[in-house]
Amino acid sequence: MSRIVVLCASPRPDGNSMAMSLALADGAREAGHEADIVELGTAMTETLRDCRTCRRPDGTCSIEDDFATLVHELVVPADATVYATPLYWYGMAASLKNYFDRLTCYIAASYPRRDEVVPALLGKRIALLLASEERYPAAGHGVTFQLQEIARYLRSPFVGVVNGIGNKRGEVRYDPDRPLDAARRLGAELFERHHSDYWMQAERPNAVWPEARDDAIGAEVSTYDDI
Ligand SMILES: Cc1cc2nc3c(=O)[nH]c(=O)nc-3n(C[C@H](O)[C@H](O)[C@H](O)COP(=O)(O)O)c2cc1C
Repeated sequence: MSRIVVLCASPRPDGNSMAMSLALADGAREAGHEADIVELGTAMTETLRDCRTCRRPDGTCSIEDDFATLVHELVVPADATVYATPLYWYGMAASLKNYFDRLTCYIAASYPRRDEVVPALLGKRIALLLASEERYPAAGHGVTFQLQEIARYLRSPFVGVVNGIGNKRGEVRYDPDRPLDAARRLGAELFERHHSDYWMQAERPNAVWPEARDDAIGAEVSTYDDI
């Protein structure tokens, strides 16, 4: 059994990001995993400050909310992290950005439990659930690109994005692309889902999917080796 933590950034507990978070958690649990959903706006009530004024002499952060508990009890022990956010001004919601900003204090050299946090953040599978009103395919690219850079920084495989379209609370359930089904499937497959991020010199099979490798039609597909 693996553990997944879903960090949901919408302030609407019955909104579209939460609907997708719940669907992903259901899929994960059906596949035998443990899944926790955290409403970031509830766990964090403060934004990052000037650390020189609020860091305690022992190196811990003096902001009195549930962020330390979130980091140590849910994020560090999790095997995968899913970020769920509404699209706000073509970016992530402020509470998710605040999560990343505040995380800085927990990986700082001065933080006494840094050696627990840093190794735990590296290499976890990550995925994105994005709720937006607009269907224009690039509307959410800013969020995807930022998460891709964060994944690269954390040496983490970025294994999936589900974009649900809706504006009213829970309206994603009517999206004809069925993002709730896609989120459920992503939850079930989070640890097995195919992921590739090649270097030019990587050894590649002639086909991506094992079933296609001996397929007669697949044999006609050109690969880098054929060029
Ligand atoms: C402050 C704010 C900014 C928004 N900016 C965008 C935007 O740039 N593009 C977009 O497609 N939708 C935008 N929306 C709409 C939300 O992304 C949309 O309603 C989404 O479904 C909300 O998700 P939630 O139900 O999880 O809160 C915005 C909504 C708010 C409240």
